[in-house]
Amino acid sequence: MSKHIALGVDIGGTGIKAAPVNLKKGAFAEDRYRVPTPQPATPDAVCKAVAEVVSKFEPTKKTPIGITFPGVIQHGVVRYAPNMDPSWVGVNIDEVMKHYLGREVHTLNDADAAGYGEYLYGAAHGREGVVFVCTLGTGIGAVFVLDGEIMPNVELGHLIVDGHDAEEFAADSARERLGMSFDEWAKHLQKYFSEIERLFWPDLIVVGGGVSKHHEQFLPKLTLRAPIIPAELLNGAGIVGAAAAAAHERDRQEKRAKAEAKAQVKQAQKAAKAADAATK
Ligand code: BGC
Repeated sequence: MSKHIALGVDIGGTGIKAAPVNLKKGAFAEDRYRVPTPQPATPDAVCKAVAEVVSKFEPTKKTPIGITFPGVIQHGVVRYAPNMDPSWVGVNIDEVMKHYLGREVHTLNDADAAGYGEYLYGAAHGREGVVFVCTLGTGIGAVFVLDGEIMPNVELGHLIVDGHDAEEFAADSARERLGMSFDEWAKHLQKYFSEIERLFWPDLIVVGGGVSKHHEQFLPKLTLRAPIIPAELLNGAGIVGAAAAAAHERDRQEKRAKAEAKAQVKQAQKAAKAADAATK
């Protein structure tokens, strides 16, 4: 795979998808490959499925691999994952993925990846100020992007509104489970986004997730202070964002390693000079 390609993997409640991403274009370089999420979605079963989708594209050792996960990942450790098997909590996902894939990967929360993707290449491209990116799917993913930086693990899909976890009434899964029309669902979304606006005052709201392809059926029904627009990368945002985040992480590490090597050389030169002076 060439230098501007990274591999993105999206672990979802129903499917695990992967595609190589052209980082210059922010688009898939090949068709994505999907397998159903194993049930129960235990770490062992999910890692095996990830290894399968990754091997499909034969990435080189240098190809960055970014993996999204539908839960909180704090310094590589899964802390909370309400829509996955409970055995994930406490697992160091970076370590187990490394074990199954035989190489380093970069993992991050799915909404964080989607927000990053939308900022780099999609609806929030280059936007300054506070952008709230929200994915409506099995759960509600949420992230703030501030001048291109994401604040990780903002679990605002679980904001309590009228005494209920927002995910229970405003996720796309709630619309399906409760058999709501788009009109009915829009009323729930209104409550959710109004509460977000009351507390956070975003400059722009971007709505993603699979249902965002039907955005004209519910977004125009919402009355908010900030403009609310559909995501542009739709369901691909996670894969694209994860691939870009992994490439960014690789560049950061390379830069750090170079700076460390340079500092070591300087240190050695200084020591040699001092030793030289001492013998004179
Ligand atoms: C999880 C989030 C995740 C979102 C979307 C929520 O239930 O708590 O971490 O980003 O679902 O998958």
